[in-house]
Formats: sequence, C-alpha cells, structure tokens
Amino acid sequence: MQSQPDLIASIGRFAALLRSGEVVGMPTETVYGLAADATNPDAVLKIYETKGRPRFNPLIVHCADLAMAERFALFDDLARRLAERFWPGPLTLVLPLKDDAGLSDLVTAGLDTVALRVPAHPIAQALIRAADRPIAAPSANPSGRLSPTTAQQVIDGFGGAVPVLDGGPCEAGVESTILAIADGAATQLRAGALPRDVIEAAIGTPVAVARADAAIAAPGMLLSHYAPRAHLRLDAAVPEPGEAYLAFGNEPQSATSGLRNLSATRDLREAARNLFSMLHQLDAEASGIAVAPIPETGLGEAINDRLRRAAAPRS
Ligand code: TXA
Ligand code: MG
Repeated sequence: MQSQPDLIASIGRFAALLRSGEVVGMPTETVYGLAADATNPDAVLKIYETKGRPRFNPLIVHCADLAMAERFALFDDLARRLAERFWPGPLTLVLPLKDDAGLSDLVTAGLDTVALRVPAHPIAQALIRAADRPIAAPSANPSGRLSPTTAQQVIDGFGGAVPVLDGGPCEAGVESTILAIADGAATQLRAGALPRDVIEAAIGTPVAVARADAAIAAPGMLLSHYAPRAHLRLDAAVPEPGEAYLAFGNEPQSATSGLRNLSATRDLREAARNLFSMLHQLDAEASGIAVAPIPETGLGEAINDRLRRAAAPRS
C-alpha cells in the first residue's frame, strides 16, 4: 500500500488523467472498473475500444453521491428510497435519463435510461470527487473475460496499456446488483453483490427477476461471459482426472492438479470475494475446472450466475 501523501498524489494524478480524456483502472468495492469521463465522447469511445466491447452494451455511470446522480436521471420515490438506503454501495439503478443530462450518448448506447451507481470504495469516492465528473466504468477486463478483483489482473488483462490506481483487493469480488426502476417497481437485471433478499427486506416487496428476453433487460447479459479459457464443469462433487477443482467447504480426497477452496467454512461472502481470483489462478493451471455446488441463496444467486455464464458455450 502507498503512504497517505503518496496516495493523495496518485488520486490527483489519476483525476487529471480522467479530466484529460484518458482511460484508467479504478478500484471499487465490487470489481476494478475501466474508468473515463462520462461527459467526453472520445474518452468513452476509448473504453469500448480498450475492452473490445460491443457498442450496444451501455456503461454504468459512477457518481460521488445521490445529489450528483440526480443531475442525470429522474428518481421516483422507490429509487430515492433505495439510493438512500444502499448508496454508497454495490447497487446500480437503471432510471429514466434526464433530457439535459450531458452524458455522452455512447454511455447509454442511445437508450432513454441510464445505469447509475455510487461506489463505496474510499479511493473511488476520492477519485470521482477529485475528477469532479461522472465516471463511466465497466469492469476492467477484456470483453467476455473474467472480471478483475486486483490491480495486477487489470494490468495483465490489458498488457500494461492501462494505468491502474491500486486500491488493494476488492472487498465484494462480484459486480453490483442491477435494478431497473419503472412504474414504481423494481426488476433485477443482474444478480450481484447486494443480495436480492436484502433489498426485498428493505423495501418490503418482492423484486422481480428479469428474464433474458424481457422487455427491460441489461443488454450486457450475454450468456457466455466472465469466461476463463479453461472448460468449466459445474455442480461437480469431485474432479475428474486432469481437472482442477474449485471447492466450497469440503475438499475432495482424490489428488487434483489444482485445488482452491472458495470458503472452507461455506461463507458466501468469502466465496464471492474469492471467485474471480481463484478462477483466474486455476485458469492458468489447468484446461478443465470442476466446480462444487453452491447454494442459490443470498449471495449464492450472484455467484451461480457468474459460474453459469463462465461455463456457457462460447459464441
Ligand atoms: O460492480 C459493477 O457494477 C462494476 C464496477 C466497475 O462498478 N461495473 C460493471 O460494469 O459491472 P459492466 O459494464 O461490466 O456491467 C454493466 C451492466 C451491463 O450488463 C449493461 O448492459 C448494463 O449494466 N446496463 C448499463 N446501462 C444500462 C441500461 N440503461 N439499461 C439496462 N442495462 C444497462
Ligand atoms: Mg463486466
């Protein structure tokens, strides 16, 4: 870790890069983001080019607080309640875009809604405030690959071409939960670091889950995503010969070429935090990875979503 004065200097330097239209790696509490000034079309275009991301897939705009977010979207009562309860934190709200928002059209991929989030990571907070701009940031991985939870993974992912502000390993380890708010109701577009049951308890009503073909959907929910190079086999009690094994709790007796345990105590938070890093590691060690069954409750919904996409046939 850097000393406090060094860190403050780094934040100033990265804020200046953002203001001059550069793309940088930014730590958040979920995963690292590939950040750029959301009001600068050239800067936003660089995000798509650097990631190799299809242009139809819109980006999340990161704000320092609710007041900043309200410059870009219309908040109804439910949206405001959710923001007040869960921001800063791993919740993204998809809301009607304001006419005079001033965001690049590329950010929203031409939709009349915008995805907004206020990250809780203190370095992300400080960077957004220092840049004094809304910050567009998808996860900082080449499109379709595993999301990064350390600065080194971002550096490796783009072959050193992107400067990264190191904020240590990410606390949550999976991306934010995405909710679309329309007609006073919430629909979950992506399971994420804020479990659906926690949201439901806070608002007192069930949250619908969008189907892939629903009218409101996150364009980025492609089936094959978060993909390691290795072949993934899910719900595997034991590895087959040659396979690495990603355990959850009990470890198999048979020797395997690579073994990681998401959580020896079956703690879903620890498992989410370890998920992408352990997949990155096993991907470097084996051409096949067997994965233990993970319960579908709480954070397990987000973990299983990422695993199913990582295992899906590549297009
Ligand atoms: O935790 C996170 O959310 C991380 C960190 C960096 O903040 N970011 C992240 O961004 O996961 P990304 O680009 O990998 O995922 C954003 C998702 C995509 O599936 C995209 O389709 C969806 O948000 N999205 C963005 N704008 C949308 C909109 N207006 N309507 C529906 N979905 C939208
Ligand atoms: Mg992503």
